[in-house]
Amino acid sequence: MAGFRSSDRRRQFLTVQSVLLVVVVVLSLSSSVSAAFNVSTLRFDEGFSPLFGHGNGNLIRSSDDKSVRLVLDRYTGSGFISSDLYHHGFFSASIKLPSDYTAGVVVAFYTSNGDIFKDTHDELDFEFLGNVHGKPWRIQTNVYGNGSTSRGREERYRLSFDPTKEFHRYSILWTETRIIFYIDEIPIREVVRSAAMGADYPSKPMSIYATLWDGSTWATAGGKFPVNYKYAPFVSDFSNLVLRGCRMDPIQQSPAAADCAASSAELSAADYATITPERRRAMLKFRHKYMTYSYCYDTWRYPTAFPECDVIPSERVRFQESGNVNVVVRRRRSKRSRQVPAVGMGSGSAI
Ligand SMILES: *[C@@H]1O[C@H](CO)[C@@H](O)[C@H](O)[C@H]1NC(C)=O
Ligand SMILES: *[C@@H]1O[C@H](CO)[C@@H](O)[C@H](O)[C@H]1NC(C)=O
Repeated sequence: MAGFRSSDRRRQFLTVQSVLLVVVVVLSLSSSVSAAFNVSTLRFDEGFSPLFGHGNGNLIRSSDDKSVRLVLDRYTGSGFISSDLYHHGFFSASIKLPSDYTAGVVVAFYTSNGDIFKDTHDELDFEFLGNVHGKPWRIQTNVYGNGSTSRGREERYRLSFDPTKEFHRYSILWTETRIIFYIDEIPIREVVRSAAMGADYPSKPMSIYATLWDGSTWATAGGKFPVNYKYAPFVSDFSNLVLRGCRMDPIQQSPAAADCAASSAELSAADYATITPERRRAMLKFRHKYMTYSYCYDTWRYPTAFPECDVIPSERVRFQESGNVNVVVRRRRSKRSRQVPAVGMGSGSAI
């Protein structure tokens, strides 16, 4: 009897505990930055066209046409492109990256008009750089405007999750006044347009691309680890495709940019166009924890910081002159846990 009662009580206690847990989870969800963006997703054929690799069966669309699989094998990679150009917009996809050994493999989700404006192109990049066994994928973002290729604005990050295990949403917001890169609902980078940036701020209509390709010459440790096709095929999945903004026909380039007022207003009013105080906190936290390289701190390449760089003195300390973060290695053997900065990670480091 007594035993029964006590286990009964334990059960009650557990129930109270789980109710509390549920309440805590619900509260934290409702107040966190993770509420999903209110965006409608497209079928592939509503917004995109195959770009390369499809003839070889390296671009595979799901039967409902809502997801696309890109494949890299020893013959070709693959990619797709938006069927129209966009003059400002919000572009997003949920992506699952290739797993296992992926050194030299590059997945990119980006906007560009390089096929139209050869010397004065604009570009906004998410680049995912594969790695050797046991080392995580790294993500790079970049911004080019009007052919500013000699002024790369790279930032590089680690991730808090394994991007090969499940889908995560990667988004680029591009308005007249700002650019925001998001991972899921966390803004990870904001570029606010300033007069000093001049034409380096992307200002011409762009297409949206998703590609998977062989970056053997640079992607992992500066080319030290090329793609190893023993591990092929490399597979990356894309879903929840979103294209918002002022659509322009690539041939006619109409409507004219000036006629994009309505879609600009809609874009500015959207949830993702505002970095709320909570989102800003999440952004700073992410950048403090996961950013491993910033052009803003790279005094080797850029002795004079860029006008848009918000150089935070406390952050400055964390970065070396190469713009790479100081990695603190705790040595076990030492009695006091001595902190030793590791050697700088070059742009193609395997870390
Ligand atoms: C989501 O967006 C749609 C279409 O823009 C709009 O009609 C709807 O009210 C929005 N829902 C929420 C919860 O904001
Ligand atoms: C973009 O670059 C071209 C070529 O360098 C230059 O002629 C043009 O004035 C630039 N555009 C702007 C808006 O500065």
